[in-house]
Amino acid sequence: MHKAASDLLPLVVFAARPYEHCPPTALNRMIVAARDGLPISDMSDIRCIGIATGGGDAPGLNAVIRAATRAAILEHQWKVIGIPDGFDGLIWPEKSFELTLDSVSGILPRGGTILGTTNRGNPFHYKSEENGQQVERDISAQVIANAKQLGIDAIISIGGDGSQTIAHDLFHKGLKMVGVPKTIDNDLSATELTFGFDTALHTVTDAIDKIHTTAASHHRVMVVEVMGRDCGWIALAGGIAGGAHVILIPEIAFTIKSVCEFIAQRERGGRGGSVGILIGNAIAGGSKKEVRISVLGHIQRGGSPSPFDRVLATRFGVAAVELIAKGDFGKMVALRASRIVAVDMAEAIGKLKAVRPSGELVRTARAIGIGFGD
Ligand code: F6P
Repeated sequence: MHKAASDLLPLVVFAARPYEHCPPTALNRMIVAARDGLPISDMSDIRCIGIATGGGDAPGLNAVIRAATRAAILEHQWKVIGIPDGFDGLIWPEKSFELTLDSVSGILPRGGTILGTTNRGNPFHYKSEENGQQVERDISAQVIANAKQLGIDAIISIGGDGSQTIAHDLFHKGLKMVGVPKTIDNDLSATELTFGFDTALHTVTDAIDKIHTTAASHHRVMVVEVMGRDCGWIALAGGIAGGAHVILIPEIAFTIKSVCEFIAQRERGGRGGSVGILIGNAIAGGSKKEVRISVLGHIQRGGSPSPFDRVLATRFGVAAVELIAKGDFGKMVALRASRIVAVDMAEAIGKLKAVRPSGELVRTARAIGIGFGD
């Protein structure tokens, strides 16, 4: 694996203040216990953990893998196993591989996931072809048996709604699971933010900035389609950050007529320029203006994670390991009021966090003249 130069050379980043004591790693605790004549023991019955990444990838996945691996090894001396391609990896346990300090070195700035992922595999509804026929079977018992065969005592499931639902079901079937929330869509209800969202916003904002200049030069309406599936967080925040004039999101019903009227109104006001998002051809028909459409697509899921996402992902990874050490299973780490907390997986699944049409962010956008096509 190609290593970043920063991982080959020791790098020290320090704030200008004396370093008073060593961090309380398990090793340090043991040294202190030995010095003080106390029993040296690790109370946890965990010896080996697995890590799986599921669903669509997001910048920051490798940062979580790295943080969890490092904390598991440095703090607890656990063995760490990387499970390839989400829970599919437990169907073929021989494909799993050990994660070491060396193998996670250099992955922090890399997009994607070194473990691979899938947004199809669900061991409770596993689809395969048998005798030319599509069949669906529940192979969850096999998956749990394979995890045991690998010696895995607990698993960190890094994923969105779908992956956390599978993790929750496996937990209720006896597998020790903890979750880490991931999605660029930021639509998980139990956490204020998911890592990947901030990086996606940088990509969207940068694209809109570039589209603005060509739009203005040609006096065109520009339509930018972004990701977000059922929720409009990327469109809303990206639209505000990129200076869009209209933002169309699933949470606010819009009509093409209103969007076109909005464009005409802007023109009457003497201001040309670009207008954001979706259904460009219909807008072209209604507005009688030249329209160009940019579908940003999977570029939003790629690239190096932003510093914010790297820090959040690292905090999540370490917190997941802490949950396992405490024996607090069936939980997902989450960000609330700037703090990392643990929430029941049940709370994290099923209900998406939609944009509130009367919420502060929509009101902010409206206050500066952004239209929603309603
Ligand atoms: O969940 C993230 C997301 O990017 C959605 O916004 C989008 O609809 C979906 O993934 C697309 O996933 P894929 O193309 O990998 O099936």
